[in-house]
This record gives sequence, C-alpha cells and structure tokens, in this order.
Amino acid sequence: MEEKKKIVFSAIKPSGDITLGNYLGAIKNWIGLQDEYECYYCIADLHAITVKQVPAQLRKRVLEILAIYIASGLDYRKSTLFVQSHVPAHSEASWILTCSANMGELSRMTQYKDKTSKLKENSSISAGLFNYPVLMAADILIYQADFVPVGVDQKQHVELSRDIAQRFNSAYSETFVLPDSKISESAAKIMDLTDPSKKMSKSDDNENSYILVLDPPDVIRRKISRAVTDSVGVVNYTDDQPGVKNLINIVCAIKGIRPEEVVASFEGRGYKEFKEYVAEVIVEELEPIQKKANELLTDKTQLEEIYTEGAMKANRIALKTLRKMQKKVGLLPAVLKYL
Ligand code: TYM
Repeated sequence: MEEKKKIVFSAIKPSGDITLGNYLGAIKNWIGLQDEYECYYCIADLHAITVKQVPAQLRKRVLEILAIYIASGLDYRKSTLFVQSHVPAHSEASWILTCSANMGELSRMTQYKDKTSKLKENSSISAGLFNYPVLMAADILIYQADFVPVGVDQKQHVELSRDIAQRFNSAYSETFVLPDSKISESAAKIMDLTDPSKKMSKSDDNENSYILVLDPPDVIRRKISRAVTDSVGVVNYTDDQPGVKNLINIVCAIKGIRPEEVVASFEGRGYKEFKEYVAEVIVEELEPIQKKANELLTDKTQLEEIYTEGAMKANRIALKTLRKMQKKVGLLPAVLKYL
C-alpha cells in the first residue's frame, strides 16, 4: 500500500502587497514541497481584517496573491490553493480553540506586543488582533498539518498552535497532529532595506524599506541602490555588516548558493557593483513571475475556478476535523433538513 503523504499547511495574510520577504521566506519554499507532501496553501483574508482594510483593495489583493502563488510555481493540480474565508470551518474551529487557549499565552506573543506597543489606547486594539494566533492554530490544525513552512517571525505562533493542540488532545483525547515549523536557512528573516535591524514588512510606511513581488525592474534597481550598507566597503557576511549580510541572504535564497560563494566572487569589488548584481538577481527572479501573474489577472474566470476547486477540497478535509472537535467538546450534532 502507498504510504500516506505528510501534510503541509501555510498561508499569507493579504494585509498589504506581498514582499520579497514573503516570497523568499514562504512561497519559494512551498514550491519544492509539492511532490513530497500534500500541501494546502491559503490566502488568510480573515487574518487581514484584524486591522482595518479598504474592502475593494482587500478583494483585489486576494486575487493578486493567488496569481502570484501560481506564477511562482504553485501548481493547483498538485496543491490545494484557496481563500480562508471560503472555508467556514476555520472560523468555527477557531472559536472552539479560543476556549482552549488562555489569555496569558496570547498576551506573550511577540507580534501582538510589537503591534500593540504602537497603539496607546487598549480600546483601539481589536480583539481580533489578540485572538489572531488562535485563528492561525485553527488554520493549521483542521488540516492535521505535520509541517508549516514559514519565516522565523511566525515560529512562535506555530509553537502556540502545537501547545493548544496538545492541550486539546489531553483534555478530549487524541484529535490533532502536532505541527512543526519548517524554516529556510537563508530566507528565515529578510530585513528592511533602510533599517536592517528590522524585518522587511508589507505594512511599513516607507516604501524604500521593502521590495514588492510586483515592483517593476527599475523600482527594484532603485530600492536596492538605496539600501543601507555601512562604511566598511568590503562585501563580508557578518553580523557587523547587517545591510550587506541581508543582501547576501537575498542572493543566496534566490540562487540556492552559500554566502561564502557570494563573498568570494566579490573579493576586491565595491558596494556599487555588488548592489547592481543583487538588483539583477532579484529582477531575473521576479520578472517572469510578474509577467505570468499579470497574464493570469486578465482572466478572472480561471482564477475563480482555481480558488473554487481549492475551497471544495479544503472544505471536505477541514469539516472532518471540525466535526470531530465539535463531538469531543460535547456539541449536539445538528440535523439541518432545510439545507
Ligand atoms: P504574513 O502574511 O505576515 O507572512 C507570510 C509569510 O511570509 C513570511 N515572512 C517573511 N519571511 C522572511 N523574511 C521576512 N521579512 C518575512 N516577512 C514575512 C512569514 O513568516 C510567513 O511565513 N499569520 C500569518 C499568516 C498565516 C499563517 C497561517 C501562516 C495565517 N494562518 C497558518 C502559517 C500557518 C502572517 O501574518 O504571515
């Protein structure tokens, strides 16, 4: 008998246009997992509304991200590509898990602390932002995912999902597989181009701090030429030169090479030449994706077919786990004759 494939789940939150950090930290790693694992790749729109969104922009962005997924090499015939809100089990499971999570562990999430430290008034912080890691746990656990490929910033949330799963399993008997994060080495954390002590983020106000997957080549070249480096003037891979280190990591993540190889090929050459090279490596990687994504976006019907097909499969799987959860916590099964 053929061995059952292990399950992979991951998602991106469409709260802003997706960055090179999202692409290298997440999508690029997802591609290589498609043959070995059964993969579910989701667009987490329910996560995006934890902060205020412009509705029409959010809808547009969800389609754009789906187009980028496909253009980057995610194959909808191999992997399940879908939109989170099209699978109601995510929200329902999230409520049940909210009752197994505790306030203490949620208050300790560093992303929550970072995001809310900027907002002084508690009253302006949505309860959704606080509960967000529980929704993320529901996303992962209802597919019985073994692995969650993410950037290092999401590691803590995956660990929390594991804790919640473990707690539920011991309270109600074995229900969930315990998930592990899967983190790529060179792209674990792509840094802000203007401040390499911070993560590159789609929600940053300064557009020079990030590269978007859909940034035109001249914009990519300009942003890289302005990227903050240092006064050392030598291409080294060291924590003392975080800007240069970040650019080397970008090259390594794209080309699948080691930092020493990049350093060796730039021996005796300056930052200007190095940055031109980095920009070309990024443009070469992103240009074909942009072309394909823009082509896909001209045919909304095809995208609609893809996400509908994905949602049908995802609903079947997610509902199975949700039914189990409902039964275990003691909810009376519904008999809905009018449906
Ligand atoms: P999000 O949308 O912030 O990021 C999506 C993915 O991109 C990775 N990432 C990065 N990797 C390297 N360098 C960076 N600068 C960088 N910025 C972002 C993130 O680690 C992530 O893998 N809550 C999640 C989305 C989500 C999810 C899930 C993920 C919802 N449900 C279930 C995994 C499993 C989020 O906001 O990611």
